[in-house]
Amino acid sequence: MSPNGTLHDAPERALRSLFLGLSQRRSLGRLAVRVPITRPMVGRFVAGETLPEVLVALERLRDAGFTTTVDVLGESVSSAEACAGAAGRYEETLAALAERGLQRNVSLKLTQMGLDISEEVCRETVARVMRAAAAVGAFVRIDMEDHTTTDRTLGLWRELRSLNPESGVVIQAALRRSAADVEALIADGARVRLCKGAYNEPASVAFREREEVDAAYESLARRLMRDGAYPALATHDGRLIGRLLRFAEDDGIAPDRYEFQMLFGVRRDLQAELLRRGQRVRVYVPYGTEWYQYFMRRLAEKPANVTFLLRSLLKEGRGPAA
Ligand code: FDA
Repeated sequence: MSPNGTLHDAPERALRSLFLGLSQRRSLGRLAVRVPITRPMVGRFVAGETLPEVLVALERLRDAGFTTTVDVLGESVSSAEACAGAAGRYEETLAALAERGLQRNVSLKLTQMGLDISEEVCRETVARVMRAAAAVGAFVRIDMEDHTTTDRTLGLWRELRSLNPESGVVIQAALRRSAADVEALIADGARVRLCKGAYNEPASVAFREREEVDAAYESLARRLMRDGAYPALATHDGRLIGRLLRFAEDDGIAPDRYEFQMLFGVRRDLQAELLRRGQRVRVYVPYGTEWYQYFMRRLAEKPANVTFLLRSLLKEGRGPAA
């Protein structure tokens, strides 16, 4: 790890690209889900494989003072049956959230809903989930995937938002186009989650240096905090969060006009500290058996995660310590 903790020095960038590349290898994914050694590590980032497991995790987070959004894991789906299956799992999840009196808030990915098959299949599948969510008063966030999906994602959300006004999108600060997208979304009154961006993008469309991504994030976050509709600031970057808190204080922006969002299992210390400081914190809680791609992106984000995994693999290879 570099002294300032950046991911963007050459070896770390190479490691990140390697893991993001591996995240696309379906055969490796099939293998990984069968190897028991990865399970404890996966359990740090994924709340469980089944609905009852995630409900327990959600109750714990609620009792600790957090709000939540649930991601039924899955992406890059290639058959209409799989899309229907994904929509069914969201319906089942939404019904369980309503029944248990838990936060009604879910996040989904368009490639899980058929974007790689056709826009028509995707539109129908997302519409099904949007309607099910509207029926129980749930919020639906459409996650953002790689830059080839940005226009289609924003377009589809604009088309479908009338089905459920409680819905929103995600903007990635790393993309060069995002300043223009944020302006358009502010004008639309859209609910925006701002993140740095988790995909391996070419320099033609994305900033590659950490400083550039962080500067873009800060500027977009300020813009959204000032004029956006209850923006969600999704980051675990403590320094950046510190600067945004100072900005909110200086500008008189009350903590109920925005929320922080963080991933399940990441920077739990910071999540708790923000709550203590009177900030709103929503935890993104993924569950399901299709965890491979999500998990690989989490490994790519922090080289120390990879070292930890390799060390436990080696230890397992040597057998139990005497
Ligand atoms: P950064 O990568 O600079 O990390 C800051 C610090 O956070 C690190 O130094 C480390 O301490 C900690 N950290 C970050 N990631 C970690 C990890 N995996 N394991 C352990 N520690 C870690 N992306 C996207 O492209 N589309 C999307 O829809 C979303 N949605 C989304 C929702 C929510 C709620 C969050 C928090 C994030 C996303 N992301 C996302 C992911 C996002 O783009 C980004 O890849 C990660 O949040 C990591 O970036 P940070 O802002 O945390 O900063």
